[in-house]
Amino acid sequence: MDSTARYNKAIADLTENNQQHLLAFYDQLDNISRENLLCQVESLDFPEINSWIRDYVLNESPLEVPTNFDPASYYPVDPKDDNQAQIYDNAVNLGKKLLSDGKVAGFVVAGGQGTRLGFDGPKGNYQISQIRKKTLFRLFAEHILAVSAKYGAKIPWYIMTSPLNHSATLELFERNTYYGMDKNDVFIFQQGTNINFSLDGRILLADKCTLASSPDGHGGSLRAIYKSKALQDMQQRGIEQLSYWQVDNPLVHLFDPLFIGLHALEDAGMSSRALIKAHPTEKVGNFCLVDDKVTVIEYSDLPDDQAHRQNPDGSYVFELGSIAIHIVSTSFIDKLNSAGFALPIHRAVKKIPYIDPSGNTVNPDKPNGVKLETFVFDALPLASKSIILETLRQEEFAPVKNASGDDSPDVTRKMMTDRAAAWLEKAGIKVPRKADRTIDCVIEMSANFAVCADDAKAKVETVPRIKSGDSIYLG
Ligand code: UD1
Repeated sequence: MDSTARYNKAIADLTENNQQHLLAFYDQLDNISRENLLCQVESLDFPEINSWIRDYVLNESPLEVPTNFDPASYYPVDPKDDNQAQIYDNAVNLGKKLLSDGKVAGFVVAGGQGTRLGFDGPKGNYQISQIRKKTLFRLFAEHILAVSAKYGAKIPWYIMTSPLNHSATLELFERNTYYGMDKNDVFIFQQGTNINFSLDGRILLADKCTLASSPDGHGGSLRAIYKSKALQDMQQRGIEQLSYWQVDNPLVHLFDPLFIGLHALEDAGMSSRALIKAHPTEKVGNFCLVDDKVTVIEYSDLPDDQAHRQNPDGSYVFELGSIAIHIVSTSFIDKLNSAGFALPIHRAVKKIPYIDPSGNTVNPDKPNGVKLETFVFDALPLASKSIILETLRQEEFAPVKNASGDDSPDVTRKMMTDRAAAWLEKAGIKVPRKADRTIDCVIEMSANFAVCADDAKAKVETVPRIKSGDSIYLG
């Protein structure tokens, strides 16, 4: 079909679906931009788009929130009896074996925009460590290398980006010589995107020849792993379990043998770390059981009376919060994609820059459009089995999300020192504290020194005496 015929077909399809404004500037474009725009229009699946508009754009509360749910059971940090202690021992041994056999890989989702932090570029390039100013990506790479050395096995690293930051991420890894990792063990791939709509259901134009679009949410990772052939790469390497985390949390225990082992012992498809919420309405997802399946109910969807419901011992019934740390079996991802699957779509009303009918760029100062995303935790109920392991906030959860206040770099850095101090104190080393018991020094502990409290204990001889006000790097 020549370009006139393609234009005629495109305008007819668009008109039929009330989206003809997308070609309003066609006459002003050069040939390359026209071709580019026609390709985007030709790839639109109108039956699907019209169902999205009806169900998620025009409908303000599309998701059905379950009304009948119970609390999910979980493995506590410390085993509750001898029987459970035996299970934990077996799990640790199995987790260690899977690591030494090279059956485990790392997978970080890093396709988000990081708007709240106000940091330009991939969030993984944010300098978070206090003394050596290491970035999140460098800390993760060092952690992976340390665990690889500990278990004498390769641990490949899969990184999901989005069109917003893919080339910048690739460039970072090249410039930093893959942070010491073998380039062949780092697989960087992009997630998909979804087009953006105005509140009245029209597709927005980002510029005169580009439809507005945004990353399809971290739930898109389960399809992107498959489409990018990352899954094939994992299968060729014999990877069975993926350790999944978010790019904003430098405290995550990337490869905890207990977590990996419990997941594998139970033959689970996808499992989760959880913590006891700081208060009943903390803004994290809630682990629940819906139709006997582990399900995350968002904090905004948990009715207040349920959030405050208490057990006879005073604890909260729905006390388990999701911190976006998972183990996912590669066989589960394969099964999902081979059978065809769809995760629930979440609607987010946002400020989306667009081109108005006169061709001017508008940067709205209030939400003007809808982005559609899927969430990875919505895959939990699709797994035939799913376990939850409790963790402690101070051990494993200090995300960098906001420029100041809660979840800000200052809080994260303090928690990094606090955890290092706790590991040293557990090993019998004296750490200076102020009168109010807060730590009176800065400690940066590299993964090379320790990835868990036991590692730190084995290195006590190498730790210098720490005085008030010191800045100590343990490498
Ligand atoms: C998320 C969880 C929340 C959890 C918290 C823990 C959701 C809806 N909520 O919140 O339950 O308690 O983390 O820190 O997820 N990302 C992509 N592609 C995307 C969108 C996000 O890769 O399209 C990545 C980001 O780069 C980041 C992670 O997913 O690593 C989290 O994204 P973000 O939007 O910051 O989630 P939160 O709202 O903080």
